[in-house]
Parts: sequence; structure tokens; C-alpha cells
Amino acid sequence: MLALFIAACAVWLQLGLAQSSGSCPAVTQHLTDPPYENFFYSDCNSDTQVVVTSPLPDSNLSIIGPRLVVAWPAGNSGICTFFQPQNGANGSLAIELVNSTIGTPLAPVFRNASDSDYPVVGVQGVLAFNSSATLTIPILGSIRTIRDFTEGPSLLRPVIQDAVNVTRFNGTGASFSRLWLDNVTTTTFTMMPSSNTQTNITIDSRNKTISFGAGFYIFSASFNYPQLTQLAPDQVLNTASQSLIEQQPDQTTSLSFLSYTEKLLAGAWRFLTYFGRDSMISALLLEPVLSQGNGSATEAVIGAVLERINRTDGSVCHEETIGDYATYLNLEENITSTDPGFTYPMIDTDFYLPVLMQQYFNSSPDRVQPLLSRKAGTVDPENANLTYANLTLINAEKIMNITAPFARNQTIGNLLHLKEGEIVGQWRDSTYGLGGGQIPFDVNTALVPAALRAIAQLARSGVYPNNTRVNTTAWRTLADTNAQVWEEKTLQFFESNITADEARDRLQNFVDTATFFNGPTNDSSLPEDGNITSYAIALQGYNNLSSVDVLHSDTAFRLFFLNASSSSPEAEAQETRFINATADSLVRPFPAGLLTPQSMVVANPALSGSDVLTENFTNAAYHGTVVWSFQLAMMAKGLERQLARCNSTKYVAPNTTQVPQWCDDETVEPNVRRAYNALWDSIENNAAQLQSEVWSWTYNNDTDTYTTTPLGALPPPPGVSSGTESNVRQLWSLTFLSVTRDASLANDDS
Ligand SMILES: *[C@@H]1O[C@H](CO)[C@@H](O)[C@H](O)[C@H]1NC(C)=O
Ligand SMILES: *[C@@H]1O[C@H](CO)[C@@H](O)[C@H](O)[C@H]1NC(C)=O
Ligand SMILES: *[C@@H]1O[C@H](CO)[C@@H](O)[C@H](O)[C@H]1NC(C)=O
Ligand SMILES: *[C@@H]1O[C@H](CO)[C@@H](O)[C@H](O)[C@H]1NC(C)=O
Ligand SMILES: *[C@@H]1O[C@H](CO)[C@@H](O)[C@H](O)[C@H]1NC(C)=O
Ligand SMILES: *[C@@H]1O[C@H](CO)[C@@H](O)[C@H](O)[C@H]1NC(C)=O
Ligand SMILES: *[C@@H]1O[C@H](CO)[C@@H](O)[C@H](O)[C@H]1NC(C)=O
Ligand SMILES: *[C@@H]1O[C@H](CO)[C@@H](O)[C@H](O)[C@H]1NC(C)=O
Ligand SMILES: *[C@@H]1O[C@H](CO)[C@@H](O)[C@H](O)[C@H]1NC(C)=O
Ligand SMILES: *[C@@H]1O[C@H](CO)[C@@H](O)[C@H](O)[C@H]1NC(C)=O
Ligand SMILES: *[C@@H]1O[C@H](CO)[C@@H](O)[C@H](O)[C@H]1NC(C)=O
Ligand SMILES: *[C@@H]1O[C@H](CO)[C@@H](O)[C@H](O)[C@H]1NC(C)=O
Repeated sequence: MLALFIAACAVWLQLGLAQSSGSCPAVTQHLTDPPYENFFYSDCNSDTQVVVTSPLPDSNLSIIGPRLVVAWPAGNSGICTFFQPQNGANGSLAIELVNSTIGTPLAPVFRNASDSDYPVVGVQGVLAFNSSATLTIPILGSIRTIRDFTEGPSLLRPVIQDAVNVTRFNGTGASFSRLWLDNVTTTTFTMMPSSNTQTNITIDSRNKTISFGAGFYIFSASFNYPQLTQLAPDQVLNTASQSLIEQQPDQTTSLSFLSYTEKLLAGAWRFLTYFGRDSMISALLLEPVLSQGNGSATEAVIGAVLERINRTDGSVCHEETIGDYATYLNLEENITSTDPGFTYPMIDTDFYLPVLMQQYFNSSPDRVQPLLSRKAGTVDPENANLTYANLTLINAEKIMNITAPFARNQTIGNLLHLKEGEIVGQWRDSTYGLGGGQIPFDVNTALVPAALRAIAQLARSGVYPNNTRVNTTAWRTLADTNAQVWEEKTLQFFESNITADEARDRLQNFVDTATFFNGPTNDSSLPEDGNITSYAIALQGYNNLSSVDVLHSDTAFRLFFLNASSSSPEAEAQETRFINATADSLVRPFPAGLLTPQSMVVANPALSGSDVLTENFTNAAYHGTVVWSFQLAMMAKGLERQLARCNSTKYVAPNTTQVPQWCDDETVEPNVRRAYNALWDSIENNAAQLQSEVWSWTYNNDTDTYTTTPLGALPPPPGVSSGTESNVRQLWSLTFLSVTRDASLANDDS
């Protein structure tokens, strides 16, 4: 994220015998990301992230205020407290987590409690306030409850807030505590004057606020809940990649913080829990370095996905609801239960699973039996009595079922649509992510055929059990046959061509009307005449748009997931147009293409000719003209995979040519390589941002300069309730541990 002046320091800190918890080595990490300071603390008892937000002189004070977040992967739990200056103007209060005799800056909380099955764990440290302050809102319990407030619209639920008690603590301090809806777990936050004994915290128990003077305060944040088992860096990485621990301590420490034997977590702090898509894309991109085998990171990902499959219809779970928020959602349904919940709103997530399993079993065939014979049910009680083999089969069956109609008859109606009533269904899961489109590009042109190819392979290698219900033997050829149709017959629905003159007009109109960019059109990067080819991000969008014609980076899915094969000259020509247009989108600078100084934006409405798309796909929209690290990694790896085919003699698919025709095209192949290198140059120029989730930019016309800007610091686009704060670390943004530049693909002229 912005100017991640990564003061990252991964420190192996031996706490020694001084701690009452006994000897328990700790790993700490400090990531500076103004106005956010992030501190990670893990030891053998618990894992914690602390985020301290303190406004900068240029911060937008309606978005950024003094705040402390404590986030725990266990139960997706946490604490969030907001502060205000007691007397001074908004923006005058600064808070800071400082080194002290308590910790540097964090120290563990660990104690066994007689009335609890689980020890009380968490962190403590010292907070510094530059002026007198009031703690205005305490939220204790689930990160989801906190996000409902921060991403809200500022939602606070009486059933949660009314259960918060504030009491006098240890003489001059104050304690906030809340018993979860499970009647078992208690979250506690305490503050106490440190050394400055004159200071007295004032408690107002009616509105549950506390006030105190400037100075230093010892805080502690703790809860009693079963903890996860973290995978150390040497357990996350395979044997061949152990040297990364020394070479990239910052990234491997972050990867370890997000990796547990039970599951990998999507991002810190907002997504410290299971997300199907994120973990599978990460495992696919990290494959060359990720550990395999029993207890490995790869099996943690696959196991977590299988455990959460809907046994009725084979859908892969998008997100889980656990901890206090699960009990809350059950209560909303008038059900008294702490059982977790699992959501299935996405249509892309199902398809990643066979691709990941095929890749894994291809390199670890000895793991097929041990993994598939494992019994499910420890996570989702509904799946008790099913094996991983059962769940694997049900997912493949679903995919075979829902992809069959289009394989028979290539109509727009038979393409895969978002679920009824949903405006999201793939990774661009925000209000304007797909511009209201119902038929997404990535799912239809890339993920479906890739999953079908994988199912054919898995069927041939005997992964699907023989079954009286479904003929999995037939899948060995049927899945390939259907894949071929999806590969060749879907792009045509998304392709559009406009003349170069029309493109120039649209670019001019964009820079004249867009609220966030008024710089040069860069139209000299377009050809003099002829057509500009591009692909809609989705079909059937808002405002009756038949296609949502924003230029986008989802072309990377087709490059990364598919070695598209062509059974006819028309299909071959289509593939050439596709890869050339994708390369053009990277070679041409924004707004003519996707490349800004902040690297490749994931969407660009400038060539759409649509005012409404320009309003919706802004530099402040979560999936607008902003940069996502994992898209950079996927595009880079996808281009590399396709370029590798030009030197390949390997068998690709039945009845198809081995080397794509464009490899011998004297303009297209060099264009693809130029795109690869332009992308890598920009990735290298933005190294400071790469490990965060998403970042944005602002443009200054006076100086013709772009400035990297945190997405969370920009006001949201119209119609969206609040801005989106990026995670400082995102699982799939750590994939540059394995995705690296291939120097053999340098441009001919360089
Ligand atoms: C706090 O302590 C840590 C660990 O010793 C050290 O790396 C860091 O530089 C210290 N911070 C300050 C502001 O002194
Ligand atoms: C809480 O109540 C006290 C008086 O009872 C008042 O002075 C203070 O402004 C209130 N604080 C908030 C944040 O409402
Ligand atoms: C309570 O305060 C005293 C000093 O007044 C300190 O020694 C003690 O550690 C504090 N107890 C807790 C639980 O913080
Ligand atoms: C909060 O206060 C109520 C009323 O005094 C008490 O019954 C409850 O146990 C307290 N909860 C916690 C977590 O201390
Ligand atoms: C917690 O206790 C309350 C009050 O006794 C009860 O109504 C509720 O059902 C309990 N919740 C759970 C999850 O057991
Ligand atoms: C802090 O305030 C409480 C009442 O709010 C009072 O009982 C106590 O004596 C005060 N302590 C100090 C050290 O001023
Ligand atoms: C599982 O799938 C079935 C059939 O589509 C559906 O009725 C059910 O609601 C799904 N379960 C969950 C938890 O969404
Ligand atoms: C739960 O119970 C309340 C009170 O009886 C009722 O108003 C509400 O509709 C119920 N909710 C559901 C989802 O059944
Ligand atoms: C699993 O099997 C046990 C006995 O073998 C049975 O009691 C239980 O109901 C089954 N659970 C499910 C979800 O089918
Ligand atoms: C699970 O797999 C076993 C072995 O193939 C099979 O006998 C059983 O019927 C399957 N169960 C379900 C619910 O598909
Ligand atoms: C797939 O389709 C068959 C035939 O209609 C049906 O029996 C089966 O339940 C379906 N399976 C899934 C997982 O959708
Ligand atoms: C394909 O679907 C279209 C539209 O529903 C229909 O008119 C046509 O007859 C179908 N063709 C075949 C071969 O089923």
C-alpha cells in the first residue's frame, strides 16, 4: 500500500524465562503503512495483529481517525476502539504504540483461568497519547462486527454493544469486557496509566466511554478461545525453498502468519479467516515454493476447501462465519447455536478446486490415497461421515453438470451467469466490480475450461472413485471434449472491435469528463487506423448495457489457467487476436491501456465510451482503476506460461496444434514479450507496494505526476457507503515469492 516505507523487521525474539508463560519463542513484525502502523505478534500460545491508526497532517479526517484494532485469527476475533481529542480539534490527537518495559512494543498475555477451558491469551503494550482523549466506541468480539461498523454504514448492534461492561480496573485504570453470545468466551480490553500516577482515567458508564489525559497507558487485549496452530516459515515452504527464509524474511514471516494447519488466511487484518478463492489462487501461484505432503501448507488449503464444500450441490465455500459472529447470525435465525456458517454466493470458486488438486496430485501422486481417504466433519458438522474423496467427486459432478448445456449448444443463455439476485460472483466482488454484469469473463473463458481439463486428467489418473451413480470413466474423454468447446466458443461473446478513430474520440471524452484523471490521452500508442480489439469484463450490465466494455486484467486468467488449443483456423486466429490485444493493453500507457506508473490497473473505463462506466470504475472503487498485487503476479506468470509454449514441443490437447500460431507471427510474439517486460518493469518499480492487497493513485495535471495513494484514504465512489481500507498483507500478494522475472524472455532489442 501507499508508500509502504516498509520498516519491516522480522525479529525472532527469545522472550526467555522472564515471562510467566514460560519459554515460548515469539515472532514479531512491524509494518509501517501511514496512517496505519501494523504490529504482528505470534508465539506458541496465540497470534495477534495490532493496527494503530493516527491521522497524518494531510489525512482526510472524515475517513481517518485515531483507532486501535487488535485482530486474532482464532474465531476471526478482535477488538476495535476509537479515540477523539477531549478538547482539541479533530485531527489533533495522535496515538502511538511505543517500546517500553512491558514490551518492544508488544508482549504476550497468557494465563490459565480456573473458570475457563482455554487460557486467556492476547497482547499488551504501551500506547502514547499526545493530548487528552476520550475512548468513544469500544467494539469487542468478532472482526466481522468491527467491519460492519468500519465498512458499515457505521452499524452497531445493541445485542453486541449492550453487553459491553466498563469498570474500574486496578485503581486508576479502566476495563472493557464483553461475554460473547456463546456465554463462554470473554473479550477484555484494559487501559491503565503507566508511570504517570497523577493521571486518572474517568469512566462514564452510561455511554460507555472513558476519558484520560495526555501520556502513556498500558493496554492489554485478551480472550479465552481455542487457538489455531501456525505453520512456521520452514513448514510453509518446501525443502528446496528454505533459503527464502533468509532471503525474504519479511515475506516469509507474513506468509507464516497467514498459514495454519487448519487453513490459510486471506489477509491481515480484515480477512484473517478462510476464503476459498484467495487460498486456492495463492496455492496455485505459490506452487513452486509451497510445502507438500502430510501437514503441509498445500494440504491445509485443499483440506480447508474440501471440509467446507456443500455436500448437497458440490459448491465450494467462499467465506466462513465463525466465532461470535456465527452465534450472532444463528441468533438472527432464532437458533441457539455456535455452529459456524458457510456461504456460497460465488460462481468462480468451484472451478479452482479441480485445477489445484490436479496440479498437486500430478507432483505428489503418493498423496492421493492418504488425502482422499481422510474423513471430513471437524469443520462443518454437515459433512460428517463423508470422506474427502466423496466431496471431491460431488464438486466435479457439479462442474460436469452445469457446463454441459453450453458444450451442447453455444448460446449466451448457456454461459454461466451469476446466481439469482447476486451482483457479485467472482473476484471483483464489490457493487461496481463487474458494472452489474451477470456473465463474467474470467469464469466463462478461463476457469470453466481449465476445470474441465483438470477433471479429465484427474479422471484418467483414477482420482474419482468408481460409482454406480455417476460414470466417472466417461469423464476421461467427455471433460476434455467439453473443455475444447468452452475454450474455443466463449471469447466471441466478449470480443469487441472499434476503429482507432473511435478509440481516440472516446479517450478524449474520458479525459474531458472523468473526475479523477485529466491528463494526456496517450493515444499515440494506438495504431493510425484499423481496429482496437478488447474483451468485455462481463455481459448484461447495469443501465441495460449488453456488455460492460471496460478494459481489464481478467485476461490474465485465460493466460494463467489455460493453454488454449485451437481445432480450427478461426479458433487459431481468435487466439492470436486475444493474446495480441492483451499484450497491447499492457504496452499502451493509461488511459489508452492499463499501465500507470503505479503498475497495471485492473479496470479502465476510458475506451468504453460510457459515462456511467467512467463514474463507476474510478480510482477509489475497490475494483476500479486501482492496482491489485495478485493480478500482477497472475498476469506475469500467465504471459510467461504462454511464451514458454513457443519453445515447447509438449503435447497440449487432443487433435490440436502444439505451438500456437502467434508464436511465429513477427509482430505478435515480440509484442507479447514487450508486454511481459513492460509489466515486469512496472512490478519492479512498485516493489514497496507488492505485498499489500490493493493500492491506488492520484493524478496532478499541473505537474503531470501520479502519486501512489492508499485506497482507504480516498472517498468512496457515489453510491458506496464507505471507502475500502486495504489489508497491509494479503495472502495472494505474497506470491512474488515464487513468481519471478524470466530474464530469458527479455525483448530482442534490449
Ligand atoms: C522497539 O523495539 C524493537 C525491538 O527491539 C526495535 O526493533 C525498534 O526499533 C524499537 N522501536 C523504537 C521506536 O525504538
Ligand atoms: C458521555 O456522557 C458524558 C456525560 O454523561 C458526556 O460529557 C460525554 O460527551 C458523552 N460522551 C460521548 C462520546 O457521547
Ligand atoms: C496494578 O497496578 C500496580 C501498580 O499500581 C501494578 O504493579 C500491577 O501490575 C497492576 N496490575 C495489573 C493486573 O495490571
Ligand atoms: C457485565 O455486567 C453484568 C451486570 O453487572 C454482569 O452480569 C456480567 O457478568 C458482566 N459481564 C462481563 C463480561 O463482565
Ligand atoms: C446464553 O445464555 C442466554 C441466557 O441464559 C440464553 O438465552 C442463550 O440461549 C445462551 N446462548 C447460547 C449460545 O447458549
Ligand atoms: C480516580 O477517580 C476515582 C473516581 O472517579 C477516585 O475514586 C480515585 O480516588 C481517583 N484516583 C486518583 C489516583 O486520583
Ligand atoms: C447447499 O446447497 C443446497 C442446494 O443448492 C442449498 O439448498 C443449501 O442452502 C446450501 N447450503 C448452504 C449452507 O448454503
Ligand atoms: C425470530 O423470532 C422473532 C420473535 O419471535 C420473530 O419476530 C422473527 O421473525 C424470527 N426470525 C426468524 C428468521 O425466524
Ligand atoms: C454419521 O454416522 C453416525 C453413526 O455412524 C450417525 O450417528 C450420524 O448421524 C451420521 N452423521 C451424518 C451427518 O450423517
Ligand atoms: C462416499 O464414498 C464411498 C466410497 O466410494 C461410497 O461407498 C459412499 O456411497 C459415498 N458416500 C456418498 C454420500 O457419496
Ligand atoms: C448432476 O446431475 C445428475 C443428473 O441430473 C444429478 O443426479 C446429480 O445430483 C447432479 N449432481 C450435482 C452435484 O449437481
Ligand atoms: C440451441 O438453443 C437455441 C436457443 O435456445 C435453440 O433455438 C436451438 O434450437 C438450440 N440448438 C440445439 C442444437 O439444441
